[in-house]
Amino acid sequence: MKNIVVIGSMNVDLVVEVDRKPLVGETLLGKGFQIFQGGKGANQCVAAARLGGNCTMLGSVGVDAFANSVIENLESSSINVNNINKNNNLPTGTAVIEVYPNDNSIIVVPGANNATDVEYVQKYRELLLESDMVLLQLEIPLETVEWVVDFLWSNNKQVILNPAPASKLSEKILEKTTFITPNEHECNIVFGSDKSAEYWMRKYPNKLIITEGEKGVKYYDGKKICRIPSVKVEVVDTTGAGDTFNGALAVFLAVGNSLKEALYKSCIAGALAVTKLGAQEGIPLFEEFNEYMQLHETNNFDQQTKLQCKKG
Ligand code: RIB
Repeated sequence: MKNIVVIGSMNVDLVVEVDRKPLVGETLLGKGFQIFQGGKGANQCVAAARLGGNCTMLGSVGVDAFANSVIENLESSSINVNNINKNNNLPTGTAVIEVYPNDNSIIVVPGANNATDVEYVQKYRELLLESDMVLLQLEIPLETVEWVVDFLWSNNKQVILNPAPASKLSEKILEKTTFITPNEHECNIVFGSDKSAEYWMRKYPNKLIITEGEKGVKYYDGKKICRIPSVKVEVVDTTGAGDTFNGALAVFLAVGNSLKEALYKSCIAGALAVTKLGAQEGIPLFEEFNEYMQLHETNNFDQQTKLQCKKG
């Protein structure tokens, strides 16, 4: 099993199902309310663990009832939670999520996630050096992300940065990251919208992977723009689809799949995640993923993706 370290957020998701987004000042009746486990970091860690990674979660929770549920949930996916920081002064992170047919909107209150500072992660240098892949997002302080990227780069280690929620990133961090996985909207914020996504993909071949939801992903392989398609599924809740994609990508790359194959499989894992309500509920187990792959004869990813590439 490959060692995957996720440094990121852990939240409790307060989820309301509603027919549409309310207008400003409008009151709507929701169809249901549920509490789920979430946080981009935790979601990605659960995805990596379910798909076969030996996973460690680094990050911060409060000292409250939500913290216990967060930790128990991670433990139930056999994730190493021994190094999670428990902060006395801040509450465990929460997210208020509205789920509409085919879409969602999310407000995150970071709370203890903001306590995942440089001083905390510096204690885990050894763990980072023993990793086969590290996964980062932007729901923890940016200085922490910058320190981790720099440390891993200096030690020749691989890191996937999922820049969500998006913020502008320095050229230094972009250069030192092994893979960066924004969606189109995040790409504009991370890189700036003065140049096209295609320009940035060409500048960062085999590194910048742009996710396009149900359409799949695209990247520049050094010769051409490649589009890796996703699969059609019945959508219940899109929350966590991107996280599942990133967690899956970490595992598939760590075990030695080519970038193209890893992306193809990760798109399928991400698609399967949207078939249930809640960010982590639909994340497939390794066996479920394999069963789906066989059932749909999607194992031959090369044939599927050949048609999708255009000459650069
Ligand atoms: O990507 C989905 C996640 O974003 C949710 O689980 C929520 O907690 C926020 O972090």
